[in-house]
Amino acid sequence: MKIVVIIPTYNERENIGRMLDILVKDEFSKIKNHKMEVLVVDGQSPDGTSEVVNEKMKKYKQVNLLLTNKGGLGADYAKGMKYAIEKMKADAVFEFDADFQHDPGDIKRLVAAMDLGADYVIGSRYIPGGAIPKEWGMHRKFLSFFGSLFARVVLLMLNVHDMTSGFKLTKTEFLKKVDLDHLLSRYYAYKIHILHDVVKLGAKIVEVPIVFYERKEGSSKISRKDLFDSFRVVILLRLRDSKRFIKFGIVGTVGYMLNALGLEFFSGVKVTQDLANFFLEWKGSWPLSIASEPSAWAAAFAAEVAILSNFILNNYWTFASKRITNPLRFLWKFSHFNLTSAGAVVIQFLVVGLAVSLFGDTPLVRQLSLVVAVGVFIVPYNYTMYNVFIWKTWKVPGLRWLQNRRVD
Ligand code: GDD
Ligand code: MN
Repeated sequence: MKIVVIIPTYNERENIGRMLDILVKDEFSKIKNHKMEVLVVDGQSPDGTSEVVNEKMKKYKQVNLLLTNKGGLGADYAKGMKYAIEKMKADAVFEFDADFQHDPGDIKRLVAAMDLGADYVIGSRYIPGGAIPKEWGMHRKFLSFFGSLFARVVLLMLNVHDMTSGFKLTKTEFLKKVDLDHLLSRYYAYKIHILHDVVKLGAKIVEVPIVFYERKEGSSKISRKDLFDSFRVVILLRLRDSKRFIKFGIVGTVGYMLNALGLEFFSGVKVTQDLANFFLEWKGSWPLSIASEPSAWAAAFAAEVAILSNFILNNYWTFASKRITNPLRFLWKFSHFNLTSAGAVVIQFLVVGLAVSLFGDTPLVRQLSLVVAVGVFIVPYNYTMYNVFIWKTWKVPGLRWLQNRRVD
């Protein structure tokens, strides 16, 4: 893998030279199985940080420099990440500070965690073995810990212990799916947004304990407003998730109503009668007899109507920001969606067909069996299929080959 250590800098002249020496000369040589490089993203520091970096670039081919107009830590990281992905073809990137608050010796420990299967490695201060500067006063310790706890609780991420660590290793396979051009913050809170999205994308998260040291040279650029900014980002992410969840529920309800109406409608039309008649000779032999029930076919058609409605409403409304407009891609996605929903058609066919053949073909039997089909079988079925094939939040070892196939 190619791993790029991204170091944002603003007035880090006293730190960056020594940091680059330690990284390239001491640390990278200890990591034998990966290609290690550095990308310094300098906000055109007035103290001449970039001159020091330019000197080091003459000495080490592993050092790269990207100049920005200091758009804030998040904005500059977004630029650096895109540069590492597009220009440097990185497979994974580090977020790392220039000021020695992060120990360069910890880099290999985070890499080792990725080698063991993690997609997103957090250098964590709030798990056993991790620490924040003992020099920090009570008030700062309190803010840092409870700030993190607030974000964990509101975003339902209790399994992540350090939400704001600036020391991370992320596989670009996941970062590429994060909308880096529209991060909710240009400042320090950008990292809460990326963390949130990467978790939602189903990345395997691992926390490695790190000690966060006190800064010796230069000064911190974090300010009071970053506290409020982080608060704002957490709330916005929460609202965004809830909105999706509610929309998803409405789409499901509309789908169900169309399903129920469709069942009544189709059980009375000629096509389903004809289909059932076609299988009339199976009437006596259960379970084949299900095919001779018009309402079984009606239930299958109704399921397809619900699938169509779910697909269209989710595409144009719930996930409007990722709307598919290209007609060919739309058809391709729709057939893929149909394939994963095919089981729902079969389930409805079987459950409703069985019910009407046992209890008689009345509206009550049809509707009650539809409730059972959807509630008992289809909701868990869809939930499983979505997690495995659509959102890919569950990784199934035996199905890796199917899951890795990209459809978008
Ligand atoms: N290019 C660029 N642009 N670099 C910046 C900017 C910016 O706007 N702001 C800060 N930096 C650089 C600094 O020069 C340093 O290398 C690194 O980003 C971290 O900045 P600090 O100012 O030292 O941050 P901190 O020590 O207060 O905060 C650290 O800990 C926080 C958690 O307590 C960082 O690691 C944060 O990311 C982390 O959330
Ligand atoms: Mn710092």
